[in-house]
Amino acid sequence: MTIPHLTAADGTTLPAIGLGTYRLNGSAGVDAIGQAIRAGYRLIDSAVNYENEGAVGRAARSAGDVRDELVVTSKLPGRHHRYDEALTTIEESVFRTGLDHVDLYLIHWPNPKVDLYVQAWRALIEARERGLVRHIGLSNFLPEHIERLVAETGVAPVVNQIEVHPYFPQQEAIDYHREHGILVQGWSPLGHGNDLQQHPVVVEIATAHDVSPAQTILAWHVARQVIPLPKAASPQRQAENLDVFGIKLTDAQVEAITALGRPDGRLADQDPAVYEEF
Ligand SMILES: NC(=O)c1ccc[n+]([C@@H]2O[C@H](COP(=O)([O-])OP(=O)(O)OC[C@H]3O[C@@H](n4cnc5c(N)ncnc54)[C@H](OP(=O)(O)O)[C@@H]3O)[C@@H](O)[C@H]2O)c1
Repeated sequence: MTIPHLTAADGTTLPAIGLGTYRLNGSAGVDAIGQAIRAGYRLIDSAVNYENEGAVGRAARSAGDVRDELVVTSKLPGRHHRYDEALTTIEESVFRTGLDHVDLYLIHWPNPKVDLYVQAWRALIEARERGLVRHIGLSNFLPEHIERLVAETGVAPVVNQIEVHPYFPQQEAIDYHREHGILVQGWSPLGHGNDLQQHPVVVEIATAHDVSPAQTILAWHVARQVIPLPKAASPQRQAENLDVFGIKLTDAQVEAITALGRPDGRLADQDPAVYEEF
């Protein structure tokens, strides 16, 4: 299975779908992530705070020749935004994975009240220069935070990983990132297992295409050029979620799913302007 790629302004390309790994830990995590790689996943999401960089690294190291195609991702937690701490944390991520480098490193949350994310960004830039990481990006950043980073450092992110699912479609944010050549990854793309897959609009479109509701939601992400990061533990669900690039939703179907969005549609009220995570 060949996965299409999307391209950021600086020419960096990322696979158009990735594996979410929150809660895939330990030996069971190694097995689940390993089987995902064998099924064709090439982008693997992780974070210091998921406590599974070890499992991700072990699965990646077992991948053989495919290692070079993998985009192993991790994220800097809010408690280590200070420049020196951030660099040490990135080094520890690399050591924990057991890889030579981490392919993509993100700042997990901006924590604007703490106001240290510019220092953190400078550390990611330095880590890239030292070869600890290949690409750098953001997660949960608002346009105002991104503009400040670019103004103060001259370095733009290749990607911003934000909450995107049909109840919170983020059309404005997606338009902003597209205009600036920043790729968007969608976290909790299936709504973290909420009632989305039973929604009548989703079920009707799924039936029309003879695919599952989960595939329909993922095809909606793909149509909007959002890189979804569905988490699935079983081989069946992993394979099902990867098999979405042949599903061509009509514009009206994409719009009908986007119309399920609502202003308070965030899963856990995590507005990056005020929410903090450490
Ligand atoms: N940057 C951030 O701040 C942030 C925040 C949240 C999440 N994330 C990332 O985004 C990833 C995905 O988000 P998420 O884990 O919250 O939720 P999600 O991917 O939206 O949903 C996962 C749930 O959907 C189920 N599922 C997966 N495929 C399915 C299918 N084909 N049919 C039916 N059910 C299916 C999973 O089942 P199983 O239990 O069987 O696997 C699991 O219960 C995370 O793992 C993490 O990597 C990032």
